[in-house]
Amino acid sequence: MLATLTLLLGLPLALATEPPSCAPLVAVTFDSTTIPQLLGQWFFIAGASRYPPHLAELRAVTFEAFSFSPGSHENELNISEIIRMNETCVVRNSSRTQVFQHNSTLVHVGDNGVVSMARLIQSDKDLLILNHINIDFPNLTLSARTPNVSKEHMEEFKAQLQCLGFTEEEVFYTSTEHACPLPGGEDNADPQLG
Ligand SMILES: *[C@@H]1O[C@H](CO)[C@@H](O)[C@H](O)[C@H]1NC(C)=O
Ligand SMILES: *[C@@H]1O[C@H](CO)[C@@H](O)[C@H](O)[C@H]1NC(C)=O
Ligand SMILES: *[C@@H]1O[C@H](CO)[C@@H](O)[C@H](O)[C@H]1NC(C)=O
Ligand SMILES: *[C@@H]1O[C@H](CO)[C@@H](O)[C@H](O)[C@H]1NC(C)=O
Ligand SMILES: *[C@@H]1O[C@H](CO)[C@@H](O)[C@H](O)[C@H]1NC(C)=O
Ligand SMILES: *[C@@H]1O[C@H](CO)[C@@H](O)[C@H](O)[C@H]1NC(C)=O
Repeated sequence: MLATLTLLLGLPLALATEPPSCAPLVAVTFDSTTIPQLLGQWFFIAGASRYPPHLAELRAVTFEAFSFSPGSHENELNISEIIRMNETCVVRNSSRTQVFQHNSTLVHVGDNGVVSMARLIQSDKDLLILNHINIDFPNLTLSARTPNVSKEHMEEFKAQLQCLGFTEEEVFYTSTEHACPLPGGEDNADPQLG
C-alpha cells in the first residue's frame, strides 16, 4: 500500500525533473478540409530562419497581414498581403499558393515569381505554422487568425524554435504597434517595394 502511494507521488516529481523533450514537428496531412481551413485573414506573428533571403525579409518586416481567397484553380489560393517593410506599408496582391493534397505540400508563388515550398505543422486551428522545405536551413514561422497569440501558444512556438537550434536573438517578431491599414481601406501602397 505504502509503496504504491510513494510510487504514485514520486511519478510527477520524476517527470518534472526530466529535461524538456523535443518532439519532432508533425506535418498536417492534407484533405478536403485543408483549403477551407486556410481561407481568410491571417497575421504573421514570428519567425526564424537561417536561409539568408528569408532572414533579410524577417529583419525588414515589422507587421504583416495576409488573406487567402479562392484562386483561378481548385487547388490554388490567391493571396493579398499588407506588409510593413522598412517602415513602409506595402500591398501585394499577385502572389498565390498551390495546395497539393497528394503530398501535403504548399507551393507559394511570389509576385516576383520566386517559388517556395512548405509543409503545414500540426497546431491549433487558429495558428498557421509553416516549415519551408526547399532549401536545407532551419526555419519555422508562426501566423495566427489574430494579430497576437496567447502566452501559451507563444511559449510552445519558442520551444519548437529552441529545439531547431535557434537562440532568442534569432527570432523575429512583428508588432501591432506597426500595424498597417488592412486592404480595402485607403493607404499608401508602393508596389515597387519587395
Ligand atoms: C487570382 O490572381 C490571379 C493573378 O493575380 C488573377 O488573374 C485571378 O483573377 C485571381 N483569381 C480570383 C478568383 O480572384
Ligand atoms: C492589385 O493591386 C493593383 C495595384 O496595386 C490594383 O490596381 C489592383 O486593382 C489590385 N487587384 C486586386 C484584385 O485587388
Ligand atoms: C508535391 O507535388 C507538387 C506537384 O506535383 C510538386 O511540384 C512538389 O514538388 C511536390 N512536393 C514535394 C515536397 O515533393
Ligand atoms: C527548413 O527546415 C526544414 C527542417 O526543419 C528543412 O528540411 C528545410 O530544408 C528548411 N528550409 C529552408 C528554406 O531553409
Ligand atoms: C491579444 O491582446 C489583447 C489585448 O492585449 C487581449 O485582450 C487578447 O486576449 C489577446 N489575444 C490572445 C489570443 O491572447
Ligand atoms: C530594407 O532595408 C534593408 C536594410 O536597409 C535593405 O537591405 C533592404 O533591401 C530593404 N528592403 C526593402 C524591401 O526595401
